[in-house]
This record gives sequence, C-alpha cells and structure tokens, in this order.
Amino acid sequence: GRKWTEIGLLNEELKDKEVLIRGRAQTIRAVGKNIAFLVLREKGFTVQCVLTVAPELVSRQMVKFATSLSRESHVDIEGIVSVPGVPIKGASQQVEVQVRKLYGISKAVPNLPINIEDAARSEIEIEKALQIFRQFLLSEGFVGIHTPKLIGGSSEGGSAVFKLDYKGQPACLAQSPQLHKQMAICGDFGRVFEIGPVFRAEDSYTHRHLCEFTGLDVEMEIKEHYFEVIDIVDHLFVAMFDNLNENCKKELEAIRKQYPFEPLKYLRKTLRLTFQEGVQMLKEAGVEVDPLGDLNTEAERKLGKLVLEKYDTEFYILHRYPLAVRPFYTMPCYDDPAYSNSFDVFIRGEEIISGAQRVHVPEFLATRAEACGIDVQTILTYIDSFRYGAPPHGGFGVGLERVVMLFCALNNIRKASLYPRDPLRLAP
Ligand code: 4AD
Repeated sequence: GRKWTEIGLLNEELKDKEVLIRGRAQTIRAVGKNIAFLVLREKGFTVQCVLTVAPELVSRQMVKFATSLSRESHVDIEGIVSVPGVPIKGASQQVEVQVRKLYGISKAVPNLPINIEDAARSEIEIEKALQIFRQFLLSEGFVGIHTPKLIGGSSEGGSAVFKLDYKGQPACLAQSPQLHKQMAICGDFGRVFEIGPVFRAEDSYTHRHLCEFTGLDVEMEIKEHYFEVIDIVDHLFVAMFDNLNENCKKELEAIRKQYPFEPLKYLRKTLRLTFQEGVQMLKEAGVEVDPLGDLNTEAERKLGKLVLEKYDTEFYILHRYPLAVRPFYTMPCYDDPAYSNSFDVFIRGEEIISGAQRVHVPEFLATRAEACGIDVQTILTYIDSFRYGAPPHGGFGVGLERVVMLFCALNNIRKASLYPRDPLRLAP
C-alpha cells in the first residue's frame, strides 16, 4: 500500500515532502477561478490544502470540482507540505498542503442535519473517562466483572423496568448490576467493578434521564466504615478530573467553543457533608426540606450553590441519608436506624453517583426487602448467596453520561451520548 500520513501528524519537519492524506471536507473557499482553499479534517485535526491552477499543480477543472464538494465529503489529497510565514487561522496544523492530486472518495449530502464534528466530541471524553476509571480501579486491586443484563426481577425495586419474555418466563433488563456485583463479593472477589449498560424504563422527560445509559459500578469489602468506599470515590474522581483536564485539552476547548463553560471547581480532598448538615445549610438559606425525606432536584441545585459559596467547590459528597429514601439493600446507621450508611455525589448541584454500605445479613436483608415492597421470591438466589459467607461491603454506581454532561456543564444529557435512548427515542 501507499504511505498515508495522519492529518494530526503534519508538521514543519515534513516541509517540501510529498504526502498522501484522507480527510473530510470541513470548509471550501474559492478565491477567483484559479485558487481554492480546502480545509480537511481527520479525527478532529485540520489542515488547510491549497489548490492553485498551474501546470505542475492542478487544472482549472480540478479547482471547479473541489469547490463543488459538499461539506463532510471524504477526499484524498496528494501534495507537497509548505510552511507559510504567517499563522494559519481555521486549521489546527500550522502547515499547508499544496495540492497536486485530489480524489473524491465519498460524497455527503449537502446541508447535513447535524454537525458531525460536534457529535464526536463528548464521545472522546467518555472514552477517556472510562479509561481512567478502569486504570485507577485495576491499580487498586479491583477485578472487572461482567454480569447478566437479562435478569428475573427488578434490581433496584420500583416499577421502572423493561419487562420481557424469557422463553416463557417473566424477565427484565437489569436496572443495575447491583445484585450480581454484591454476589461477586460473597464469592470472595474482594473488590469488583463493571462498566456496562443500565436500563431504566421510568417515564422521565428531563435533561438528565436516559432509558439506557452506561453504568460504572463498584463494590468492595469494608473493614470498618463506609468511608472506605467514599475514599475510593474521592481519589478516583479527583484523578479523573485531573486527567481529563490534562489530556483532553483539545476536546474540552472544542466543546467550550460551542457551549462556553468554566472548568469544574474541585478540592484535593473532596468535601464531605452529612445529609443533616446539608438540610441545615438549606434551612439557614430559607429553604425548608423534610429532614427525613429526599432532596428534590431544586433543593439539590440550591445546596450546590450554597456549597460553592461556602467551600469553593462544585464537587462534593453528601452522606448519611435518611434510610427511608434509600433502596432496600442499604445498611442503616448503627447509632440511628432512621439514617443510613449511604451517600450521593454531586457535580454542579446534580447527582452523578449513589452508593452505600449494604446489608450483609441474609435474614435482615429479606426483612428489609419485604418492608420495601419487594417480592422476595424474585431475589431468592441473591439472598441465598449471603448464607455462604458474606463480608461487610459497600459500593456505588455512577452514571457516565451524567459525569461528562456535568463536567462540561452541558445542559442536556443527550449531548453526552452518541445514540441517546429516552422515552421518545429508539433510533438511530
Ligand atoms: O442512583 P442509582 O439508581 O443507583 C444504583 O443503581 C445503585 N445500584 C448504585 C449503588 O451501587 N448503590 O443510579 C446510579 C447513578 C445515578 O447517580 C445517576 O448518576 C445515574 O446512575 N442514573 C442515570 N443516568 C441517566 N439516566 C437515568 N435514568 C439514570 N438513573 C440513574
């Protein structure tokens, strides 16, 4: 095959060399009949290609053909790298390609309904965030597991499940790997994580709910305190934010250009507040909330603002929630069973994580499930696995698209998903 050069690798060292590149036509501009500028893009990098009518370069027909190309059409170009004396605006690479040959490879329809360049951005962030998540946990001794997405009953309680027929047996799509990640802990894995799809059938028509999203789940043995889980959240997310800021500069810049935002403010040791402290802060600001209820979206946002003013951070952990608002598997506080060893984590006043220590005593687990209206028959194998020796343990679940949406201060989770699924959208 011929030698291809990636657009992102075009630099001054290639001056006067002949190169072969392929890219998508980003902009095309004619200057009279004899000159045209074509900016080609490959994986977010762009280079300006110059067509000049001359015997050793291109013909007038070629310039005409180039200017007739629709945006996002794929083009191959052979040409010579040159270095202009002035900075090149509108292209990432600071060299030009003097075109000798140009081939149209595929044509995009004129007037595309979406901006292809934007669509790819947050997906790159997502990939990077996942990479850091995986690397961090592997280095902390966690084992990656893969749990079934077809299961016999609801994993989070409630009715928001996609039901289906499993060869004549009622089944549903997993709302989370909750039950199976805990069973893996009973199976002596010690520390586990999973990256996988999570399905929620709730009728939520909001900026932050999807019917299918990517769940990052973590579960681990606890020696003494659920703060051991919170410490993992703290170190993991500080590493993730640092890393995104450092290694996704180009992507963040591109997103910022389209949707301006300020970089996330976060502390080196993540702020931890108890639910009661949060309620107190709200009360002092004139917002009355039920001290044993859940915070609604508005109260969460307000608390986010108060925390920012007082502690100068947009990332914090709220823990020791009232037991009544947490799922059945949540461990009550030893000193006050009206509260629980649980936590939520917020970015810019919106929830990205929920987590907790779990009940590991099978009889108590069954009692709690019943009290929460769960049909114990549907989770018998789960409860049974705690009879084979279950250590104290806890974990958390992260909504990946929410993390990216809020880190970049996007106003809609659909902007952080390549193919969003919501109650009204099943395609593409
Ligand atoms: O709060 P959730 O439902 O908690 C669980 O699934 C537990 N099993 C976690 C645990 O280990 N205790 O979901 C966890 C996170 C939320 O904090 C939120 O970020 C995200 O998943 N999430 C959603 N993201 C997009 N669309 C939805 N419909 C979401 N529902 C939850």
